Amino acid sequence: MRGYKLKTLAATAALLATTSLAHAEDVEVLHWWTSGGEAAALNVLKEDLSGQGIGWQDMPVAGGGGTEAMTVLRARVTSGNPPTAVQMLGFDILDWAEEGALANLNDVAAAEGWDEVVPEALQAFAKHDGNWISAPVNVHSTNWVWANKAILDELGIAQPTSWDEFVVALEAVEASGKIALAHGGQAWQDATIFDGVVLSTGGIDLYRQAFIDLDPEALVSDTMVEVFDRMATLRGHVDENFSGRDWNLASAMVINGEAAFQIMGDWAKGEFINAGQVPGEDFLCFRVPGSEGTVSFNADQFAMFGVEGDDAVAAQNAMAASIMSPEFQSAFNVVKGSAPARTDVPNDAFDACGQQAMADLAEAADSGTLIGSIAHGHANRAAVKNAIYDVVTAHFNGEFDSATAVQELVTAIEINQ
Ligand code: BGC
Repeated sequence: MRGYKLKTLAATAALLATTSLAHAEDVEVLHWWTSGGEAAALNVLKEDLSGQGIGWQDMPVAGGGGTEAMTVLRARVTSGNPPTAVQMLGFDILDWAEEGALANLNDVAAAEGWDEVVPEALQAFAKHDGNWISAPVNVHSTNWVWANKAILDELGIAQPTSWDEFVVALEAVEASGKIALAHGGQAWQDATIFDGVVLSTGGIDLYRQAFIDLDPEALVSDTMVEVFDRMATLRGHVDENFSGRDWNLASAMVINGEAAFQIMGDWAKGEFINAGQVPGEDFLCFRVPGSEGTVSFNADQFAMFGVEGDDAVAAQNAMAASIMSPEFQSAFNVVKGSAPARTDVPNDAFDACGQQAMADLAEAADSGTLIGSIAHGHANRAAVKNAIYDVVTAHFNGEFDSATAVQELVTAIEINQ
């Protein structure tokens, strides 16, 4: 039941004043966690809330990066009926905060000490004007490769440690008749690969100059041309049915032994785990060769919208508090494939890939090599992000050569800045 209906009932209002029933409200949650691994992780949250008497109204809108979800959200808010909580990334959160649409979570944050435990890089998107507006759930990163271990063993391929070795490995798989690179041709997936290729080719400096500072010289540099050349190399190793394929179906190709590699954020690990696979035994996880030491992060948060009614607000606050508890952060992220969004969560429950993710994250934060994902809205506002998607995808599909792509990129970014 929604808060505004309850509000008119005096008897219910009296009941709400009496402690536990103040939580007897549903939260309506808009998200894009629709794959098997994602649904398993979402269940951890649903069950946690249900244990507190909070019901769940599900509003799934599939599509990595959240582009489709953000379109649906806009319609809901415009009609004056926002959901309680919305999965959201990076600059999108700040955009909604600027519109004055988000709730203030300062009381929960103060009671639970969020300021002390949430990494700075996440606070930059979870707070606006000094106020907490969103609860960080995790820290994913995008510059990962997932590999089928049996294929690599069978072909005598060692885990590649440089871009050149990676290309040799892709060629060897291709020659064996297997699919080298499992990929889904969707703009956000092309852009996800691009994150890792930029880091691998130009390092943290080029990434920062070109995609954070949006420096036109960096955007048209020879190294950027090489970035696009490498994208074209990858394009040469996907199968002919790649167009439009969902990312989790690409993961399934690696899981089933149809394909050797997938470049994807560590939500892919959720699919391997959900299929009963074990890191180091069935699959390998490693950074996009050449990008080791750098981390392009993508942190899911639940942005909390302004809801009406004490009971609705209480349920929303309870959801925010649950999300940020160390126990939840461990239980959820073990299943989701991500690292916790707080720095004090022990790593013992995590598998080898999860422990590596946590260590890489801490090290990158210390050494200044932690940087927001271009593909997942942590480098730029949506207009620039989408302009980059367009160019990367058009190039991936052979519309431009690499030299043209860098020119298109600089123009598209300039227009949409
Ligand atoms: C989200 C992940 C999600 C992935 C694929 C990303 O944008 O941050 O949580 O698993 O999309 O749906």
